[in-house]
Amino acid sequence: MNEQQKTELVAAALEARLMAHAPYSHFSVGAALLSADGTIFRGANVENASYGLTICAERTALSTAVTAGYQTFSGLAIAAAGGVSPCGACRQVLAEFAKQLPIVLVDTEANNATREVTLEALLPDPFSS
Ligand code: THU
Repeated sequence: MNEQQKTELVAAALEARLMAHAPYSHFSVGAALLSADGTIFRGANVENASYGLTICAERTALSTAVTAGYQTFSGLAIAAAGGVSPCGACRQVLAEFAKQLPIVLVDTEANNATREVTLEALLPDPFSS
């Protein structure tokens, strides 16, 4: 992921966040996943009245990409208040396709300040069968 792609990915995650359906937690999350050919896939959290059925932004983006035929990824941006790190479930699901994925965390409460991590650092020993 080069600097231009990072800028585009952050912008896409911020836009995706606006599409969140989060009437229960009021915590909107946007995600943007960069595929190997440069295509960006977006996702937002989609909550449900049956709370446990909520889908995180990261898994929404990943499912959209895989369903479109993309399985190789070179970057992920996540935009939310506080610049949050992806939940454990999303880490495992992302690791299915990109164990060393570079991740940009965007803090919407801090003028969209970014922090960069890798999935490998967040989930060093993912389950695999
Ligand atoms: N959420 C995400 O979209 N991604 C994460 O990695 C953690 C949490 C969502 C789920 C729920 O709609 C809201 O944030 C509060 O937990």
